[in-house]
Formats: sequence, structure tokens, C-alpha cells
Amino acid sequence: MSFRLQPAPPARPNRCQLFGPGSNTKLFAKMAASAADVINLDLEDSVAPSDKDSARANVIEAINTVDWGNKTLSVRINGLDTPYWYRDVVDLLEQAGDRLDQIMIPKVGCAADVYAVDALVTAIERAKGRARPISFEVIIESAAGIAHVAEIAASSPRMAAMSLGAADFAASMGMQTTGIGGTQDNYYMLHGDTRHYADPWHWAQTAIVAACRTHGVLPVDGPFGDFSDDEGYRAQARRSATLGMVGKWAIHPKQIALANEVFTPSDAAVAEAREILAAMEQAKARGEGATVYKGRLVDIASIKQAEVIVRQSQMISGA
Ligand code: COA
Ligand code: MG
Repeated sequence: MSFRLQPAPPARPNRCQLFGPGSNTKLFAKMAASAADVINLDLEDSVAPSDKDSARANVIEAINTVDWGNKTLSVRINGLDTPYWYRDVVDLLEQAGDRLDQIMIPKVGCAADVYAVDALVTAIERAKGRARPISFEVIIESAAGIAHVAEIAASSPRMAAMSLGAADFAASMGMQTTGIGGTQDNYYMLHGDTRHYADPWHWAQTAIVAACRTHGVLPVDGPFGDFSDDEGYRAQARRSATLGMVGKWAIHPKQIALANEVFTPSDAAVAEAREILAAMEQAKARGEGATVYKGRLVDIASIKQAEVIVRQSQMISGA
């Protein structure tokens, strides 16, 4: 281990981020009543250009009037390549109350993108005397974003979470797919006549997880477009959880339970983690750094692995 300890990410449940267009006001109360940990009210790509101003006003009113419970409340602003983003930031920071927790910056390509938003947010927070600083989450969804992922994760103390946005990422990379995440028909290895499907999102996900874990940011898997395919969503989410991501987006309410199911450690996994910790306590008492648990080696690294699962479970249950 480097002498610099790995910083802990924000200790909050982030299993499911539910999105809804800022132009669709009838969804807001349903989103607030849902079982998602994070709510993302969208001003960006689910809102038509002609609706940008009214969506912004709707979202500000909803932040101030809807009971969002203890959810993390985030608004996705427009990208820095549009004429809308500065007005999104100014109006949100000036008119939405302290209930707004976070701003999501889409299509981030370099640390300076975050710096620009940070400068504007900081100035308005000071002018308005805001009690609680707004946190940031970003979407990695371009070639530039993934090329600069480490500097983006380190770009601001406001950085709380980072998501992979599969659709824009695929477009920016020139990938031959129109699907939003999941298995791709043409991404396979041949072994004899048998096709073995591989995961084209894998390397971007691991790059995001590494950058996030280095800098104390939550790594999150983005959207899965085919909301009629529960098993496809589960499979994608399970791969993401295995790689170290803490949650996934829902673009339809039926995906919320799937995300919560996958990103909540199961009772069996928590029980096994506790048994490994107990086995290592006994080994330590005997003066040993390694022992055998269910026929396999466990050692000091196993303690850290088991603690990840126990801590995640305690944090989610609020213990
Ligand atoms: N949040 C909360 N509730 C939602 C919802 C959402 N994102 N999307 C749909 N619902 C509600 C509907 O209002 C409906 O409620 P009802 O039973 O009270 O009538 C119910 O869930 C079933 O909805 P359904 O008819 O299956 O879907 P739809 O045709 O109304 O909407 C989408 C489908 C995809 C347009 C809609 O889910 C949506 O806008 N999703 C978010 C898109 C988005 O934000 N994209 C940006 C990030 S990629
Ligand atoms: Mg996008």
C-alpha cells in the first residue's frame, strides 16, 4: 500500500439512481415515493430544446415543494457544449433551496470542465450564504472522458459519484451499436463453433472504478435501455457489482427493485463475510496471518474483502 491511504467515498446508499425528464411533472411525486436511493431530475437529453426553460422552472419548483424524504436529490444539468448549462446552474443555486444535494454534469471530458462548474457554483453559494455545499456527480460518456478519467475523479472536493453513460460513450467511441448497455451481438470470441460473448463495457467500467476508488468517489453503472429485459438488466448490474460499482441507473420504475436487489449484499454474503472475519480473529489469536475457511485460503486481504461487504450492508440498513 502506498503511504497515502485510499480515501473513503461518501457513506450513503447509492444502489439505484432513478431518472425522470424535468418536462414530465407528473412523474415527480412518483419518483419521490419510489425505493430509489438517488433521484436525478433531468434537464439534459430527455428534455427537448423547446422545453429547456420550462423544465428548469418545473424542477426548481419540485425541489422546493415535493417531499423527497431522505433521498439524495440531484439534477442533471446540460452539457458545457450547450447554451443552457450556465442558466441551469445559476437558477438552481439561486432559486432551489438547500434540499438540492447534488448536480450531475454530463459529458465531462476533462478536469477543467468540472473546474468551470465548480467556480460558478462556489461563487453563487458564497453570494447566497448556502449552508451545505452542493456535491457533484459526473457522467463519463465520451472518448475524452474515459481518456481523462483519473484527473476528472480528482477534479474537485465536491466530487461524490461518477457514472458510465453507455449510449453517448458508444457514439463518441464510434462503436457499432445502438443498444444502451448490455450484451452486444457482434462482440464474441469463437471457440470451435461456439460463440462466447464478452463484455464491451468492461474496460471502461474498470477504468472508472479505479479512478473513483483512488479519489474517494462512488462508481456507478449508467442506464440499461431495454426496460422490458429484466434478466439483461440483472446480468449487467451483477457484472458491475462484481467489478466494484455501487449502483446503477433506472430509466423506468421497474428497474429500481432490480438495482436494489443486486447492489444490496445478500444475507448469505453478509453471513459468509462475518464468518470469514470470525475465522481470521481466531487465526490472529493463534498468532497466524492465514487460515482455512470452507476449504479455501483466507488471509489478511480476506479481512478487507469481507469488511467491504459488511460495511456496505451496515450502511444500507442505516446501522
Ligand atoms: N419515474 C417514476 N415513475 C415513472 C417513470 C419514472 N422515470 N417512468 C414511468 N413512470 C410511471 C408512469 O407514470 C406509470 O405510472 P402509472 O402506473 O401511475 O400510470 C408507470 O410508471 C408505468 O409507466 P409506463 O407506461 O410503463 O412508461 P411510460 O410510457 O409512461 O414512460 C419512459 C416510459 C421511458 C418514457 C419513462 O419511463 C421515462 O421518461 N423514463 C426516464 C427517461 C429519462 O429520464 N432519461 C434520461 C436518462 S437516460
Ligand atoms: Mg448521455
